[in-house]
Amino acid sequence: MPKGRTKPLLRALGGEALTPPPWWLMRQAGRYLPEYRAIRAGAKDFVEMCLTPTVAAELTLQPVRRYHMDGAILFSDILMLPYALGQKLSFREGEGPILEPIESYDDIRRLKPGQTMSRLEPVFDAVQRVAEALDPFTSLIGFAGSPWTVATYMVEGGVSKDFRRVKSWAYRDVDSFGALINLLVEGTVDVLAAQMAAGAEVVQLFDSWAGILPESAFGHWVIEPTRRIVSALKRRFPDHPIIGFPRGAGLLYERYITETGVDGIGLDAMVPAGYARARLQHQAAVQGNLDPVLLVVGGTALETAVKELCRRFAGGPFVFNLGHGVLPGTPPENVEMLARLLSESNAIA
Ligand code: CP3
Repeated sequence: MPKGRTKPLLRALGGEALTPPPWWLMRQAGRYLPEYRAIRAGAKDFVEMCLTPTVAAELTLQPVRRYHMDGAILFSDILMLPYALGQKLSFREGEGPILEPIESYDDIRRLKPGQTMSRLEPVFDAVQRVAEALDPFTSLIGFAGSPWTVATYMVEGGVSKDFRRVKSWAYRDVDSFGALINLLVEGTVDVLAAQMAAGAEVVQLFDSWAGILPESAFGHWVIEPTRRIVSALKRRFPDHPIIGFPRGAGLLYERYITETGVDGIGLDAMVPAGYARARLQHQAAVQGNLDPVLLVVGGTALETAVKELCRRFAGGPFVFNLGHGVLPGTPPENVEMLARLLSESNAIA
């Protein structure tokens, strides 16, 4: 694939400071869009939507058609890997994902890594369809969950309050928990490489629960697996940028960047701009970090915060995004306002 870096998102991730900054939003496809809800209402379930290439491609393109973001993120889910490994998965309205929990080394051995790629074939097909449909300025973003975050769902069986089961296992039995993480490292490399081969130009690793581990466990279960994934992908696709999003990593953001080798770093909304500018932006392109609630609120609160963020990160490589995903009740017209504010940000830089 020819890789002229003419697309703004790829240029920023390659280290260029651009005004206005390229932008996209985590969870930009979804319930806040009426056209998503219409398709969702007619579908059997969420997993089936992810496994129907025409539907996944359409849902990927919906937000981009409306708002012309610089990035189109594949419509899929981080839990499609456990699903492909053979773990039972369902999504119940209002409850989030439900998985049959993995509780022991025997449970790990019952997973079927050999079938992962064939079960995810429709996902890679969707990537190819989107790649063919996108305009020449928009980049296609593939993704996966990080092994740690995916393991939290696999072991807890869904969303958790205190992560007691997964942490206990990780602290108590490094070897058997490590077997699960190794399986996920290998699966994640295969899945992301297949997405790249199908046309994803950049990938993001979502580590939504990176921030719940103390330093040494963070090194072991967040940094080390991520470093292995990045180095395996770089060997095969040296020019494809990789964004890491270790949400909540706080003071460990710096170690995460230097030790994993990511090209871009997703900042959650609590990372101070001054700190990120001084300590992180010279090492990786920064991406973020507007509080998603501001996009629900809109108006002058949104305007002030967007201008401030663009001003603070101008002068270095910067991709505008939220600090976490778009919230379900976000008014679509506020995203429209954000698009306009960003396109006008020439004037304020
Ligand atoms: O960004 C995008 O729009 C692309 C698609 C995407 C989805 N999930 C679709 C989805 C992406 C990138 C994800 C990532 C994801 N999935 C993460 C990491 C980001 C984060 O939010 O922290 C996590 C932890 C998951 C697991 C997951 N999937 C949960 C906890 C839930 C239920 C609650 C929720 O956030 O909606 C999902 C369901 C899900 N994934 C929906 C969508 C559009 C909603 C499904 C529905 O319509 O009911």
